[in-house]
Amino acid sequence: MASNADFQIAIEGVREKIPCPRDRSVLVAMEARGLARIPVGCRGGGCGICKIRVVSGDYRTGRMAACHVTEEERRQGYVLACRLYPNSDLIIRLRTKNRGVITPALLGKHGTGNVS
Ligand code: FES
Repeated sequence: MASNADFQIAIEGVREKIPCPRDRSVLVAMEARGLARIPVGCRGGGCGICKIRVVSGDYRTGRMAACHVTEEERRQGYVLACRLYPNSDLIIRLRTKNRGVITPALLGKHGTGNVS
């Protein structure tokens, strides 16, 4: 159950929301709920493998390698999940390793089947 200090992270196509305190990365919060269906590598903003997109909400990021998230991508909401910290509730969009939108099958029991 989320505490009052937690923000709620919604993943497009996933019914369950993830509680995430302000000082915890979204990646760690996803893993704690068993909803980490993205590749994970360095956990330090250096490999770029955990790139996702924030669709709405206010957030801040830790250091992210510019070669993996360009300035243009940052303006579009692309971030590295291991370096993403919420300042409000967020809606995020996951991508698969081959850059496609994640599918309900990849989300397992938490998927709603409504991903387009
Ligand atoms: S796991 Fe390497 S950048 Fe996030």
